[in-house]
Amino acid sequence: MSGAAEVGAALGSPWPATARRGDDGALVVGGVDVRRLAEAHGTPAYVLDESDVRARARELRCALESAFAELGVGVDVYYAGKAFLSVAVARWVHDEGLFIDTATGGELGVALFAGVPGERIGLHGNNKSDAEIARALDAGVARLVIDAPDEVDRIADQAAVRSRGPVRVMVRVTTGVHAGGHEYIATSHEDQKFGLSIVPGPDGSDSPAVAVVRAVLARPELELIGIHSHIGSQILDPGGFVAALTRVLRLRAEIAAQTGVLVPEVDLGGGFGIAYLPGDVALEPTRIAKDLAAAAAASADELGVPLPRFSFEPGRTIVGPPGITLYTVGTIKPVRLADGTVRTYVSVDGGMSDNLRPALYKADYHAVLANRTSSAETMLARVVGKHCESGDIVVRDCYLPADLRRGDLLAVAATGAYGRSMASSYNLVPRPPVVSVRDGVSREIVRRETEADLLALDRG
Ligand code: LLP
Repeated sequence: MSGAAEVGAALGSPWPATARRGDDGALVVGGVDVRRLAEAHGTPAYVLDESDVRARARELRCALESAFAELGVGVDVYYAGKAFLSVAVARWVHDEGLFIDTATGGELGVALFAGVPGERIGLHGNNKSDAEIARALDAGVARLVIDAPDEVDRIADQAAVRSRGPVRVMVRVTTGVHAGGHEYIATSHEDQKFGLSIVPGPDGSDSPAVAVVRAVLARPELELIGIHSHIGSQILDPGGFVAALTRVLRLRAEIAAQTGVLVPEVDLGGGFGIAYLPGDVALEPTRIAKDLAAAAAASADELGVPLPRFSFEPGRTIVGPPGITLYTVGTIKPVRLADGTVRTYVSVDGGMSDNLRPALYKADYHAVLANRTSSAETMLARVVGKHCESGDIVVRDCYLPADLRRGDLLAVAATGAYGRSMASSYNLVPRPPVVSVRDGVSREIVRRETEADLLALDRG
């Protein structure tokens, strides 16, 4: 282990668990000084603290397992690969006892390439292609999550020409509970593309969810293993999960009463919120596990049916906080605002191509001077990228030292989830590498895109 890792106290939230200041003030992550990272891998670069990813995966799994074990109920945790998936990450979370949730053939392909067995992978998707279904069936995935009525026959027909036994499927339902970024909206009718509503027709006919459940039960090639509900993302209040859990368990009891089948599993999706800014309070694994187990126990008492096995699909909470992005400072430009104050625009060598979230969701981030400390006064700054759009913002508002200069390194916290996975090569800016750090050693787990990569796709 490098000596630098021993220096300084952990920076705490929203930084990776191993992030601290080294003896001369530079940021150190996973025991590696960010100046060494910038020299070895260039900037911009995503840096991922491997031990933090592993610990967060393990802690969440253990918290959920132990809270539900008290009710005599098992739990499976699927890591949602959409947050960020690479071969290394697939192996880390697999090592830590998680399954992998994939939403496309691409994610499924990476998980399989990593050596994760099909029976440890799930497949989602609101528009699965025949090829994606075929690949999932050939891989013997743990489950396919049905998102639309036509998938019942499309999956069953493909299963019929294979001799692997019934295909394990879940039915994704919409409970009317939405959370994260918006208040919960208990709408009776859903206006979005995912899942199947649990609201019966105006004439009392089966809800779309129950109709699909019946269709699944009618196909011997399918085994209905669960009901699935995902209510949103970046949720900081457990109330939405509790409401969804209660509605799904009620639906399960109604399905049992109508069909005689007590569905064995319930998946409550992902969405556990993280801290992006200092002072943000994340949804802690032990808190959510305790609240959900208590709500499950209360529902079981009320409904009088045995509880199902539970599963979850967290993404952001596992890879978000362990990730940072390192940028090099370029142009620094003070701009006088209408009210007479000055905002300093600090341009860095990346931007909306490596982190779309500020432009897409007005997401806020936190940046610090990373290669040194400074005792200079602070200035109101806006960190912006190098793209041809005024919305190309990395950090909307932050205070940075007034002696910030070209060539300094900035680190932006909590970029591990939905950063690289939503990156583009807009303006033909090649996508940054993902560098894992652990015990003083750095390793590129995804290399930097190059101009040659961009040209390799261009037929001329
Ligand atoms: N399961 C399902 C069915 C999902 O749709 C999602 C996220 C997850 C699990 C994982 O959610 P997480 O635990 O990561 O919140 N691009 C957006 C987030 C989109 C999430 C879409 N679905 C962002 O950057 O905030």
